[in-house]
Amino acid sequence: MKKLLKQLTETFAPSGYEDEIRKLVRAEVEPLADEIQVDALGSLIVRKKPTKPSKASKKIMIAAHMDEIGLMVSHVDERGFVRFSPIGGVFGKYVHGGRVRFLNGVQGVIGYDRFDKTHEAPPLDKVFIDVGATSPKDCPVKVGDVAAFDRPFIEMGDRLVAKSMDDRVGVLVAIEALRALQSTPHDVYFVFTTQEEVGVRGATTSAFGIDPDLGIALDVTPAADTPDAAKMAMALGKGPCIKIKDAGALSDPRVVQWMIRTAEKNNIPYQREVLLFGGTDARAMQSARAGVPAGCISVATRYVHSPSEMVDYADVQNSVKLLIALLRAPIDLE
Ligand code: CO
Ligand code: ZN
Repeated sequence: MKKLLKQLTETFAPSGYEDEIRKLVRAEVEPLADEIQVDALGSLIVRKKPTKPSKASKKIMIAAHMDEIGLMVSHVDERGFVRFSPIGGVFGKYVHGGRVRFLNGVQGVIGYDRFDKTHEAPPLDKVFIDVGATSPKDCPVKVGDVAAFDRPFIEMGDRLVAKSMDDRVGVLVAIEALRALQSTPHDVYFVFTTQEEVGVRGATTSAFGIDPDLGIALDVTPAADTPDAAKMAMALGKGPCIKIKDAGALSDPRVVQWMIRTAEKNNIPYQREVLLFGGTDARAMQSARAGVPAGCISVATRYVHSPSEMVDYADVQNSVKLLIALLRAPIDLE
């Protein structure tokens, strides 16, 4: 599982440019799928049909987003310095001194204009990418080219660190649950969605197309277990987070209770999650068509949207266990 997570997080695929990651995911899931399809926005839809169709069969959409935050070239100046427009939530405090890699393989380092407030993060319009060019002529990238953070995956005991843990760790949980799910009464659509980081766009169209009875997003959630963090309950190593609320959605309380009951019955540790900001594909599923009961299982993650996002391996394993336990039995929402 760690080897696959390394491959997933070391693949470059910012929102709207998910080709490389889709290829990798497709190679993993193709042998496990009853049906496989790519929709118009590029989401990869993998169907696992019910082992024995019955009245208890529900159409369930599992959403894990494949895209990651990134940068797009907006201007190259006369000395070859590259300005960019962020793709998703790129923050000045994290880009400083960082490295990026363009989809054409070009690497760059992030520099910044003269900025006297050294104790503050520079705003993104004071930041540029230096790709080693001296003029627009010898600059290996042009307006519209796309890059992502460049940082290798590392293991620190039980803690795993990489760029784009958001949401390749969710992608991993979906793949591993699909791999281990021996039988299910449900018609399950594992959807590897696109363009989440720019406003849950891929999940919006794929949820419309699938028209599920129930939706579960798999994503990261910021851990608040570091010094002077926001007052929230989520911590590394305490189990999958069952989302109750974030800024984008109120999880359906019946879905929350079903997840909690299932975790307790199967002795899987879990955490109750109220996130003070942010959102996931659950929002898109919940408001699809005439509405869908939806919830989210999150993996607590430190330093979200930095090039070094950290998760705990046991949380990843327990998230897989919880998802399997949810999918293998009939569902009674009460
Ligand atoms: Co994100
Ligand atoms: Zn995410």
